[in-house]
Amino acid sequence: MVFGQQLKSVQIESLHYIPAGSCILIVGGGTGWILEEIANLFPSGLEITYIDKSSKMIELSKKRNYQLNTVEFINAPLEDTSLKHDYYNVILTPFFLDCFSQPTFEVVSEKLDKSLNPLGLWLYIDFYLSAQSTFMQKILVKFMYTFFRLASRIEARKLPDIDSYFSTYNVLAKKMYYHNFIQLQVLQKSK
Ligand SMILES: C[S@@+](CC[C@H](N)C(=O)[O-])C[C@H]1O[C@@H](n2cnc3c(N)ncnc32)[C@H](O)[C@@H]1O
Repeated sequence: MVFGQQLKSVQIESLHYIPAGSCILIVGGGTGWILEEIANLFPSGLEITYIDKSSKMIELSKKRNYQLNTVEFINAPLEDTSLKHDYYNVILTPFFLDCFSQPTFEVVSEKLDKSLNPLGLWLYIDFYLSAQSTFMQKILVKFMYTFFRLASRIEARKLPDIDSYFSTYNVLAKKMYYHNFIQLQVLQKSK
């Protein structure tokens, strides 16, 4: 509610890194608005797997106009979903990995890593905090975690430490938004 359109614009910007004809995995996609944005750029030729554990979100996402792209919807937690190895060219996890505690983050990231092709792209978008973050940013993240722990029973209490996990990836682009509160990283898996 606080950021609304801003969270969307970062994601829309990230879509320009998707190569035409890609096989894409979207995890925790929410209402599916991103499927329409992807279709605006690529009206056809994409094969998309769309995972969300919420049946409501999947129901809303199925109603989206994703044009001539192929979309397979999976209504299940990522943890319970089996994914093909070395299959996807692009993985999108916008505001998804922040739902997990560090150990679960590493387990689910490992699963995603295995499903990504060598040289495939992982479009990572999430909140970012550092020692330099403002007091307001730290409070806001604390508030979000308290709220979502009560509302959706997420297990996380703080943002995961992603840097060590992605240390073997090449960072093709790293952009910060909204006074360094949101980061986009375009990460390429090594061979
Ligand atoms: C914060 S929302 C982000 C939605 C969307 N990416 C966006 O930015 O508008 C997180 C989404 O991840 C889904 N989710 C949470 N935990 C999940 C899990 N373990 N497996 C699959 N989906 C999950 C939720 O149902 C929710 O739709």
